[in-house]
Amino acid sequence: MRWLVTGGLGFIGSNFVRLVLRERPGVEVVNLDAMTYAGNPANLAGVEEDGRYRFVKGDICDPAAVKEAIGNGVDAIVNFAAETHVDRSILDPEAFLRTDILGTHVLLEAVRERGIARFLQVSTDEVYGHVAEGDSSETDALHPRSPYSASKAGGDLQALAYHTTFATPVLVTRGSNTYGPYQYPEKLIPLFVTNLIDDREVPVYGDGLQIRDWIYVDDHARGILHTLERGEPGNVYNVGGGNPRTNMEITRLLVEDCGRSMETHVKHVADRPGHDRRYSVNCAKLRGLGWQPLTPFEEGIVATIAWYRANEAWWRPLKSGEFLEYYKRQYAHR
Ligand code: DAU
Repeated sequence: MRWLVTGGLGFIGSNFVRLVLRERPGVEVVNLDAMTYAGNPANLAGVEEDGRYRFVKGDICDPAAVKEAIGNGVDAIVNFAAETHVDRSILDPEAFLRTDILGTHVLLEAVRERGIARFLQVSTDEVYGHVAEGDSSETDALHPRSPYSASKAGGDLQALAYHTTFATPVLVTRGSNTYGPYQYPEKLIPLFVTNLIDDREVPVYGDGLQIRDWIYVDDHARGILHTLERGEPGNVYNVGGGNPRTNMEITRLLVEDCGRSMETHVKHVADRPGHDRRYSVNCAKLRGLGWQPLTPFEEGIVATIAWYRANEAWWRPLKSGEFLEYYKRQYAHR
């Protein structure tokens, strides 16, 4: 079997590639990645030596690059390639529309033309929008509210439309907030941990009482693998951690673990425009196929903080250059 993974140099993508090479000895992996700011070769350091791994640099929006990556054929495509940061989508939405919608379309066309047996679209729980109470099921209407989540909903719905219209064998996963090793340090947990290690303040948006459902990256990657192998084409599967926390709870945990204090190191700043207050997904459907998250949050978060402490050589270069420009644009005026 040969699988094409797109965006395999990103956070969840690279964790997925490692998982597959480790646990599926019969699978070869082709990784198509555009190497944007978040696609980091260091995320797969050492993997190049594996004879079952091939890297192709290219953009999913470019049909020629997709063709090259597919080569003589693949048995499945798993699409991780995406612009993923809500705050960046507020500053500059266009890249999101391009990659998350148009890029998904280019891949779907390739699946159709080449008769590829499975296409898995990695989507997000943000497509459901703010959930005041209860939790979102796969059949719920989508109410995306940021340029990011609207772009992801576009890709997600295109995939499902291809199944309806052309019987393309698509699967969609809608994952919740993911944390763990190799996450680019612009997202809440790695940004806060690395700021705290550096004895800097952490910027909490608004009152910090927004709720997210946190899942460890290995559990998310396993949920995607499980869906790819056991899901029913044309179906959506929620992949959540079942671990809701307010941002303030997360912040307190990180501040304390890093030996800093809430009084000196937490700065409440202007809220994110259109900030969704709460997400919550019902994962009974994927659990019914035998998947469940294995890492308790208390364990995963301690391991994650320890990983960032032990891997300064990985994140320090990322918090320079382009990142500093972004940080200024994002936080200086708040
Ligand atoms: O729910 C799944 C989604 O989770 C994924 O689809 C996205 O790709 C991923 O980025 C994440 O989206 P969020 O917007 O929830 O993640 P982020 O880490 O940016 O923010 C988490 C929460 O923390 C959110 O309520 C905003 C808040 N926050 C974030 C940052 C970066 C702050 O208070 N301060 C910050 O500096």
